[in-house]
Amino acid sequence: MTYDYQARVFCVTGAAGGIGSALCLMAARRGARIAALDRDVDGLASLVSALPGKDHLAHAVDLTDDDAVAQALQQVGARFGRIDVLINNAGMTSAERFDQRSVASIRHELSVNLISPMVVTRLAIPLLEQSDDPRILSTVSLGGIFPLGETPMYTASKFGLRGAMLALAMDLGTRGYQVGSVLPSATDTPMLWQEAVDGGNSLQFLDPPQQPADVVRAYQRMLDKPRVERYPKASESWLVRVVMLMPQRIQTLLPLFRGRGERGMERYLRSLQERGVATRVGDQWVLLAEGSTHSMHS
Ligand SMILES: NC(=O)c1ccc[n+]([C@@H]2O[C@H](COP(=O)([O-])OP(=O)(O)OC[C@H]3O[C@@H](n4cnc5c(N)ncnc54)[C@H](O)[C@@H]3O)[C@@H](O)[C@H]2O)c1
Repeated sequence: MTYDYQARVFCVTGAAGGIGSALCLMAARRGARIAALDRDVDGLASLVSALPGKDHLAHAVDLTDDDAVAQALQQVGARFGRIDVLINNAGMTSAERFDQRSVASIRHELSVNLISPMVVTRLAIPLLEQSDDPRILSTVSLGGIFPLGETPMYTASKFGLRGAMLALAMDLGTRGYQVGSVLPSATDTPMLWQEAVDGGNSLQFLDPPQQPADVVRAYQRMLDKPRVERYPKASESWLVRVVMLMPQRIQTLLPLFRGRGERGMERYLRSLQERGVATRVGDQWVLLAEGSTHSMHS
C-alpha cells in the first residue's frame, strides 16, 4: 500500500537538520502540510523557503523546555487541528569523553535524545487523537542497538529511545496507532560533520556514510508499510545484531576494525574539505559555517 501524503499533517522535530529537512521536503512534495520544530531559527527559515506550498508552520523551540514544547504544540493545534504523523527526529551527540565531561552535559544529551521525544509524544497525544490514522515515528540510530565506546550517553539515550518506542508500539498499537523507529547508521549530515572534525567514533566510517535521502527512503517504506523498526542499511543491522548476541566479545572484536575506520574517517574529512564544509587548521579539523549551509541545501 502506498501512503497518501495529501493534506496529512507532519510534525517533525529537528526539522532544520540534515535528515529532518530532507524528510520535510519529501513529505511536502507529496502534498503534506509540515509543522517544523527546531531550535535553529535560521535553519527553519531556510527550510520553509525551500518547501513547496504555503501551508506549513515553522516554530523555533528548545525541545528540552517542556513549557516551550507545550506552546509549540498549541500553535500546531491552532493551525492544523491535528497531527497525523509525529516524527521525533531531533538529536545530538558529543565527542566529549565521558570521564571529562560535565554532569550538566550528560543530562543535556539524555534530555535532547531520550526525554524530549517522550515529552513531545505525550504532549502531542491530544492532536494525534484527532487523526484517523495516527503515526508516531522516531529517528533512533544503529547506536540504539550497538554500543560505541566514545559515546556512552548517545548509546544510553538511543537504547532507551528504541526500548520506549517498542513499548509504545505495544501500548498505543492496541488503540490504532502505528508506532515505529528508523535506525540509521552514519549519515552525511551536520551531526556527522561535527563528530568527524571532533575526532568521534571512527568505527562509523568503515563504509562511506549514507545520504539523508537513504534515511528518507526508509521513512517512506515505514509509512507505506508500517513496521516497528526499519533499517536504511539492512546488512549492517544484521551484523550488529549478531555481534550483540555475544556482548562479551565486543571489546575483542572491535579493535580489529579500528584501523579501517580511522582511514575511512580521514577519507571522509578530506571529502568534507573538498566540499568546502571543513578545513584543517594546524593539526585540527574545523567546520566552515558557510560551506556547511551550502552543502546541506545543495
Ligand atoms: N547523522 C548520523 O550519522 C545519524 C546516524 C544515526 C541516527 N541519527 C539521528 O538522526 C536524527 C537527526 O540527526 P541529523 O543527522 O539530521 O543531525 P543534524 O545535526 O543535522 O540535525 C539535528 C537537528 O536537531 C536539532 N536540535 C538539537 N537539539 C535540539 C533541541 N534541544 N531543541 C530543538 N532542536 C534541537 C538541531 O538544531 C538540528 O537541526 C538524530 O536523532 C540523530 O541522532 C543521525
